[in-house]
Amino acid sequence: MFTKQSLVTLLGGLSLALAQTSSEEYPSLAEIRAAQATVQPYSPVSNVQGLAFNRFVNIWLENTDFDVAADNEHLAELAKKGLLLKNFWAVTHPSEPNYCASAGGDTFGMDNDDFHQIPANVSTIADLFDTKNIAWGEYQEAIPYPGYQGYRYPETGANDYVRKHNPLILFDSVTQDALRLRQIKNFSSFYDDLEHRRLPQYMFITPNMTNDGHDTNITVSGAWTWRFLTELLENDYFTNDTLIMLTFDETDTYEIDNNVFTFLLGGAVPKNLRGTQDDTFYSHYSVIASLSANWGLPSLGRWDCGANLFSWLAEKTGYVNYEVDTSNLYMNQTHWGPLSDDDYSEYYAGWPVPATEASCSAGHGILSTVKQTYKNLTATFNYTTPFPYDSRSGNNVGVKYSRTLKNGKVESGISQ
Ligand SMILES: *[C@@H]1O[C@H](CO)[C@@H](O)[C@H](O)[C@H]1NC(C)=O
Ligand SMILES: *[C@@H]1O[C@H](CO)[C@@H](O)[C@H](O)[C@H]1NC(C)=O
Ligand SMILES: *[C@@H]1O[C@H](CO)[C@@H](O)[C@H](O)[C@H]1NC(C)=O
Ligand SMILES: *[C@@H]1O[C@H](CO)[C@@H](O)[C@H](O)[C@H]1NC(C)=O
Ligand SMILES: *[C@@H]1O[C@H](CO)[C@@H](O)[C@H](O)[C@H]1NC(C)=O
Ligand SMILES: *[C@@H]1O[C@H](CO)[C@@H](O)[C@H](O)[C@H]1NC(C)=O
Ligand SMILES: *[C@@H]1O[C@H](CO)[C@@H](O)[C@H](O)[C@H]1NC(C)=O
Ligand SMILES: *[C@@H]1O[C@H](CO)[C@@H](O)[C@H](O)[C@H]1NC(C)=O
Repeated sequence: MFTKQSLVTLLGGLSLALAQTSSEEYPSLAEIRAAQATVQPYSPVSNVQGLAFNRFVNIWLENTDFDVAADNEHLAELAKKGLLLKNFWAVTHPSEPNYCASAGGDTFGMDNDDFHQIPANVSTIADLFDTKNIAWGEYQEAIPYPGYQGYRYPETGANDYVRKHNPLILFDSVTQDALRLRQIKNFSSFYDDLEHRRLPQYMFITPNMTNDGHDTNITVSGAWTWRFLTELLENDYFTNDTLIMLTFDETDTYEIDNNVFTFLLGGAVPKNLRGTQDDTFYSHYSVIASLSANWGLPSLGRWDCGANLFSWLAEKTGYVNYEVDTSNLYMNQTHWGPLSDDDYSEYYAGWPVPATEASCSAGHGILSTVKQTYKNLTATFNYTTPFPYDSRSGNNVGVKYSRTLKNGKVESGISQ
């Protein structure tokens, strides 16, 4: 059987020559035009049945406090059609480390929106999906061609596409693979893929800096969401067995709980949960854990390992989620790491080592390449807890968590 990876190796120079594009922060306009003329989007399809959904659509808006989003009429109306996740948390500030976390299960200490290229020995959700050939894609509004790696586009003038809001482009394990790059596409590809019924089973959707509220406000991002989703919700191909998540990268105010307004919509939301609210503690890491539990995929062995699963999915797998006492929790800054600028976290040169032996919430072990790469190394953080913390800098410490297993046994802990 040819995996995508071996096919790339087989085609070797050919596919690379076709799709080789600049990995610079500011490629020249000539390079951009040349790539636009040659690089074609790639839209693999798959139909791997999941326990709770067959497709996951992850849509992110920007920088809004919970109450402000909840007050927006468009978002409030949409949330009523689905399940409101009242206790869903972003993992840090500013934007980029949150997007990074959604793909890599870690922030690597990032406390900035800089140009980062994360080494190829760091695995992502793309590697998890590849274990079962689950098709994935990203739709980034206004990215000039598939897999563009520049810092922004256009390179000057009003903000439109920005790299910091593109999760998978930050990872060399993605950008060194010509096929993977071509799965990072613009919004016109979204509508092409929709029309030709070749949408992937996992997709990440980033509106431009106007539509996502970054350079505007919730009135604009709420109206964009309404326009984007109302038509799609009528489309059986799009919505049947699909779980759509609308969330925010982070709150706008840094000094408060990083609890972001989040809801689930679509045909895969169980009928009895529609129009209700869920108090379970979730974070951006819970999405990775839930994708793994849904499709029987391994864990990255990072902060996805101990993250809670979507409540009704947890019931299907038998996993018991933790309750987290959030009275001492902010999740508004991250632990130390090599991507820190020493602004809100502490710089330290070593790349954090993931867990390789832990038992994770998703229940399907840890990715074999992670186990291979990091064997015999001690995990840097306690990745089995349901939220990230760091004893060394005191980040998110002193937080209590507990759960009661089905046999009545109580497990509890405190981050310290
Ligand atoms: C991963 O790659 C980085 C950058 O090349 C390197 O510093 C690090 O030692 C590697 N980690 C392991 C476990 O091989
Ligand atoms: C989107 O990408 C396609 C090719 O991948 C290109 O033809 C189209 O012009 C792009 N659209 C925009 C708005 O950049
Ligand atoms: C963002 O996209 C919308 C169309 O969805 C467009 O009207 C707007 O001009 C774009 N913003 C910028 C700054 O280019
Ligand atoms: C958003 O900005 C527009 C003007 O650009 C304004 O009319 C509207 O009231 C603002 N909404 C909020 C919630 O501040
Ligand atoms: C989607 O579900 C509806 C209602 O259950 C059904 O009528 C329709 O045939 C389904 N469409 C597809 C494309 O599966
Ligand atoms: C996180 O919140 C606490 C409590 O409000 C505050 O002291 C701290 O400065 C905040 N961190 C950041 C990065 O703003
Ligand atoms: C690595 O761990 C394996 C078992 O987990 C052990 O057999 C082996 O000796 C260890 N290697 C080193 C270099 O420590
Ligand atoms: C790590 O977290 C697990 C699960 O919450 C807990 O049982 C364990 O005691 C923690 N380990 C350390 C060293 O804090």
